[in-house]
Amino acid sequence: MKNTATRQAWKTDFPVFADRNLVFLDSAASAQKPAVVLDAMREFDAHSYANIHRGVYKLSETATAAYEGARAKVGTFLGAASEREIIFTRGATEAVNLVANSFARPRLAPGDEILITHLEHHANIVPWQLVCEQTGAVLKVAPITDRGEVDLEAFASLLGPRTRLAAFAHVSNALGTVNPVTEMTAMAHAQGVPVLVDGAQAVPHLPVDVQEIGCDFYVFSGHKLYGPTGIGALYGKQEHLEAMPPWQGGGDMILSVTFAGTTYAPAPGKFEAGTPNITGAVGLGAAIDYLEGLGWPAITAHQEDLQAHAEPLLRGIDGLRLIGEPTRRAGLFSFVMDGIHPHDVGTFLAAENIAVRSGHHCAQPVMERFGVPATTRASVGLYNTREDLDALHAALLRMKEFFDA
Ligand code: ALA
Repeated sequence: MKNTATRQAWKTDFPVFADRNLVFLDSAASAQKPAVVLDAMREFDAHSYANIHRGVYKLSETATAAYEGARAKVGTFLGAASEREIIFTRGATEAVNLVANSFARPRLAPGDEILITHLEHHANIVPWQLVCEQTGAVLKVAPITDRGEVDLEAFASLLGPRTRLAAFAHVSNALGTVNPVTEMTAMAHAQGVPVLVDGAQAVPHLPVDVQEIGCDFYVFSGHKLYGPTGIGALYGKQEHLEAMPPWQGGGDMILSVTFAGTTYAPAPGKFEAGTPNITGAVGLGAAIDYLEGLGWPAITAHQEDLQAHAEPLLRGIDGLRLIGEPTRRAGLFSFVMDGIHPHDVGTFLAAENIAVRSGHHCAQPVMERFGVPATTRASVGLYNTREDLDALHAALLRMKEFFDA
């Protein structure tokens, strides 16, 4: 009871719920923003905005301090050794592309290998396919089990003398699987293989410590973390960032430019060409402050409570099949229903003011692995309550009656 009351209080932090009766179960696609994030961005734009790293006037100094302050917050949030290991990007997708182009591509020769897994989001597949096409390298894929977990034996056996990088999700956005990333990183490192972890679906649900994981790179997006779109971050070990060439050229990433040649700023500046998403970084910093204010013990307890509530409800629906039965799950359930297409499920639920995602979740190989064209995915956030899941359950039962009639 106390749990539900507390979470109702969290719901009121999010203005989107103030003026409508909405059961929002699509946070894995993009989370809603609390007022503190919206206010921080508005306040910054209204009173503290100027371009950064360029002006000697007060407003530019204030804006620079806010932007760099947000970098420090991301560094602490991820457990990085220094905020200089944090590069702001447009999101997780751009961060993976940065590593693919700046770290992997120069190291790849024909026949070299990149190892990923079968449960990756397209953003952790396609950038590697592109560099493989460009270099003659080969993409290797570790299989997943029927539970939707990476087959660790197969993963280990695919780490070979030609593997130049292993890249895998911390949490699957399509299945909810939490991968044992510390163990997988240790397995890769034992073979001398650097590791990128895609944390886009993990950071809203579990505390991350990149030094504990030991990974070389970690990426995430602001918009899944109750922050704005168009901002995300790449964590990279300092030794790698120093050795990597810039990926994009432009302003703010240089020390000096002549037509004879250009010298580059040290990381992270080297990787942030052009005027960045300054306000977005401020919003992301505010989202991190908000999460840390709630505290991880409360956040994870809430999520576990929602999952424990949802699972028997969903399993109790005749004809509903969960896709993925991972031992550790974070924040979402994917399912299909006998005789009802996932898009029809999504449409029926939408008519009842319940927002879910129906589709392939930017993870078509996962759908193919389970032999389904799509799934319906219900994913939870801080603002969800047990009542939201009860509403989903009741609507699914009504839908079955409707389609069975
Ligand atoms: N990657 C986002 C999702 O999982 C868009 O829905």
